[in-house]
Amino acid sequence: MQTKADTPAALSQPTLVPAARPAADWWRDAVIYQVYPRSFADGNGDGMGDLAGLRARLPYVAGLGVDAIWINPWYPSPMADAGYDVSDYRDVEPMFGTLAEAESLIVEAHERGLRVLLDIVPNHTSSEHPWFKAALAVGPGSRARRRFIFRPGRGDGSEPPNDWPSVFGGSAWTRVSEPDGAPGEWYLHLFDVGQPDLNWEDREVRAEFESILRFWFDRGVDGFRIDVANSLFKHPELPDLAGRNQGSYADPGSEEHPFWDRDVVHDVYREWRAVADEYPDPRVFVAEAWVHSPERLARYVRPGQLHSAFNFDFLLTPWRAPLLRAGIDEVLAALRAVGSEPTWVLSNHDTVRHLTRLGRPQPERFDRGAPQAVAHGEPDLELGTRRARAAAMLMLALPGGAYVYQGEELGLWEVEDLPDELLQDPTWERSGHAHRGRDGCRVPLPWSGDRPPFGFGPPGAREPWLPQPAAWAKHTVEAQTGRPDSMLELYRAALRIRREHPALGSGRLEWREAPAGALAIERSHGLLCIVNVDADPIPLPPGATVLLASGPLPDGLVPADTAVWLRA
Ligand code: NOJ
Repeated sequence: MQTKADTPAALSQPTLVPAARPAADWWRDAVIYQVYPRSFADGNGDGMGDLAGLRARLPYVAGLGVDAIWINPWYPSPMADAGYDVSDYRDVEPMFGTLAEAESLIVEAHERGLRVLLDIVPNHTSSEHPWFKAALAVGPGSRARRRFIFRPGRGDGSEPPNDWPSVFGGSAWTRVSEPDGAPGEWYLHLFDVGQPDLNWEDREVRAEFESILRFWFDRGVDGFRIDVANSLFKHPELPDLAGRNQGSYADPGSEEHPFWDRDVVHDVYREWRAVADEYPDPRVFVAEAWVHSPERLARYVRPGQLHSAFNFDFLLTPWRAPLLRAGIDEVLAALRAVGSEPTWVLSNHDTVRHLTRLGRPQPERFDRGAPQAVAHGEPDLELGTRRARAAAMLMLALPGGAYVYQGEELGLWEVEDLPDELLQDPTWERSGHAHRGRDGCRVPLPWSGDRPPFGFGPPGAREPWLPQPAAWAKHTVEAQTGRPDSMLELYRAALRIRREHPALGSGRLEWREAPAGALAIERSHGLLCIVNVDADPIPLPPGATVLLASGPLPDGLVPADTAVWLRA
């Protein structure tokens, strides 16, 4: 095994690694597999996923037929927010492995035809980052404090500078003790106390992130997912929200907001695009930006800025045909107006897994995150599975790119009965135990065997960091492989057909007539996708060949909660 001692040489002399399969615009219709490293596979047996586990399982990922992987933050971190609190942007968390292993992983992924996207976290560092430690050590008015957002408190200094809430609950401000031990200034953290917000008005902050991008691009990384890409700039006067918009993460509101989606952020992404374009093989960005409308999202992917931005519409849209169709149309119109393509997402590490979401009685719209898990009754997992199969085929038939969150291809559901004492998401504590947080979608993957830990680690390994449901015995990779009706084989087949028929990627989409409660989408070359959401069974068009169906088609009819791909 490589050790920490292997890394300094790599640090000073990066290997210039070519990216996989050069192809201009590859991201436009790429399918990208999201790897949540602590829950993917445990190579060293400590109960936590790691790079050794991921390297060993790369053949599995490549075999799915995806184009790339996006790896959630793997940097050194005190883990106040599962790695989104970074203390060193140019290294790897020892719990996950070493920088040398990361470099090997990039090479091996490329050899298997997989591009590699990392996660960059520019809004905040960890409170253990050397910059923040220096800011605390040297005191008010210093150069070191200007890299963050420090302010005196209100009144006698004991009240926070304004009324902004943290996304995870409580105030977005924490008071520090000054070097002499006296209670002092406050610093802003839109997320956890351990995630101080950086000051993006500061040139040094901007230069540092450009340097970090180059550090990883020089190591062959093909791109970055940008964490909370819409939050970097704050209104210079830090005005109160005064109740006019509580700053909900999902719905920042249409009026100019003091910390979400401020226009000046686009200057940064023009600079980042220029850095990416310095590289011979296209390096790309995908923005995580919860913004108010598709038009606001489109601003991030205008020419000269980012390549793509997650479209989170499916995370908030219930299983209702008119809403699904309206969402698809709005996003396509807004993004195509700026020459971009959508990037579809059904699940990720922040939201209730879609199998559970779709298995509940469907509301008008879902709230983001945990509240939806309790708000709408017990899920019917069989129903959720049928809908999740159909939803995957809908997503993969749409123009643009798509992200597959690890485990959705196994039909995993949200684990909603994790013991309280094991919950790690800061939301649980910061909300005063009102919201259980996001751990339920982060449970380690089941690979093989008929009882937990399902081959997550090597024989004799420690228990996984979160317990897996015993019922996942039927959902392991081993149990599903070769079983034609399994979720895994459905994903494999859909991804294979998508590769064989590039018309399923970028390009034209026409809506065809369909009964109320159903969707019929025609792509070029006579490829048709019918999704029966909740209509009566629909006859297949005469003479059409079925390429793939998400479920049985009794008497040649497409029943409710079923999708089918056809060739005319
Ligand atoms: C979005 C990430 O996806 C989420 O997991 C994290 O908690 C916040 N950004 C803060 O970094």
